[in-house]
Amino acid sequence: MPRRARILVVDDQLEMARVLADDLTDAGYVVDVANSAAMALEQTRHHLFDLVISDLRMEQVDGFDLLKQLKSLDPDLPVVIMTAFGAIDSAVAAIKLGAYHYVTKPFRLDEVTAIVGRALEERQLRTENRSLKRLATERSSLGAIVGRSAPMQRLFELIERVSRSSASVLICGETGTGKELVAKAIHFSGTRREGPFVAINCTALPEALLESELFGHVKGAFTGATSARHGLFAEADRGTILLDEIGDMPLAVQARLLRVLEEGEVRAVGSDDVRRIDVRVLAATNRDLALAVREKTFRQDLFYRLNVVPITVPPLRDRVTDIPLLVEHFLDSARHRNPEGPVRELAPDLIAALAARAWPGNVRELENLVERLVVTGNAPRATKVDLDRTLAEGPLADASFDLRRETIVSLRQLEAEYIAWAISRCDGNKTRAAELLGIDVSTIHRRGKGQGEPT
Ligand SMILES: Nc1ncnc2c1ncn2[C@@H]1O[C@H](COP(=O)(O)OP(=O)(O)OP(=O)(O)O)[C@@H](O)[C@H]1O
Ligand SMILES: [Mg+2]
Repeated sequence: MPRRARILVVDDQLEMARVLADDLTDAGYVVDVANSAAMALEQTRHHLFDLVISDLRMEQVDGFDLLKQLKSLDPDLPVVIMTAFGAIDSAVAAIKLGAYHYVTKPFRLDEVTAIVGRALEERQLRTENRSLKRLATERSSLGAIVGRSAPMQRLFELIERVSRSSASVLICGETGTGKELVAKAIHFSGTRREGPFVAINCTALPEALLESELFGHVKGAFTGATSARHGLFAEADRGTILLDEIGDMPLAVQARLLRVLEEGEVRAVGSDDVRRIDVRVLAATNRDLALAVREKTFRQDLFYRLNVVPITVPPLRDRVTDIPLLVEHFLDSARHRNPEGPVRELAPDLIAALAARAWPGNVRELENLVERLVVTGNAPRATKVDLDRTLAEGPLADASFDLRRETIVSLRQLEAEYIAWAISRCDGNKTRAAELLGIDVSTIHRRGKGQGEPT
């Protein structure tokens, strides 16, 4: 235990309190004693207690009032109640008011220390959970977006401004520019950050499934609907939904979405019940939606509804001054994932060469390239020679694996390419790639180099 927990024992029979206090002190806690509720409250003004053990029946202010006041000061504070034998009703009432547990007098001391130990452990876990959650929040907020260039500073300003409102935002930008990152930053730095963040890729699902994913369905609404589903809009209530690749949303679903946005309520497929929802909508696309409107593949009314605030994430080639910073950032995380690799730094000539590239795949492409340099490098310092070698190995992670070849290549060759692609899609995580490919990690190493028998 890094710090000894501090416990307050409250009992108007001071002798009782002392016996218990001594025992808890022996168990390694710091213990204070109060002989009235008033004194207990006074003590809480001076010390931060991790747990309070209190008698229920005391003169003047009784244990119930003390419990209520303690809970209003700190809802998480575990309070253990001591009651007289036979007073089970009042024990139950105390639990309802938020007491952690009760013990009936006379009690065995080891019984109390066991309860105290468990309560403190649970409290510790809760605190850790919360700080982990906070950490995760910070990671997904503004601080997670690397960049100092002028276009990025304008982007940060815009994100901060829109995160204070609940307006719909349309995030545009080429593939891999960081649109999803921007969406998360808007959610996690805004007033809805405590609420859920839910994302859906509109490309990935056929029309009927997309519809039920978004709005939910009742049991039996269609073949395969073996159980009811709330749908992502209901799940995102009080939070944010990101409709990713909105340009790929089929027109029928667009019509439904528009109604949901206009009415602020959803109706599950096959249901008559409507449910009011409070959801902030962010949409992202790498297409020219205005053009899609002209071509009648995207509804104009929906476009206006989503495009209340447009945010365009600049392509990497328009912010090359950010490249060294991004490289440093990705090098850090790639080394973290590949601690056994020898690469520790990238030579200036390599960074200069990176800044001169066109980056059609934008930041994601850069991220994958750095990862590849780290994974395949064989010296502490990677240079331009390593870059050229890495680039000669083939294209960087594409969203899809293209089977088309100008000439017929061997299966073994194709397999090696597919494995390499899978690894880069898994951000260099070979274990994960192996899992998805349904093969062993050792096989990935062998076959990824084009050795061994093709399957
Ligand atoms: N400014 C940045 N700082 C740090 N990491 C970034 C930045 N921009 C993008 N990335 C990283 O690059 C990758 C791609 O980002 P993201 O998924 O947000 O892009 P996208 O625009 O949504 O791409 P797509 O259009 O393909 O969906 C992610 O791993 C993300 O963490
Ligand atoms: Mg995306």
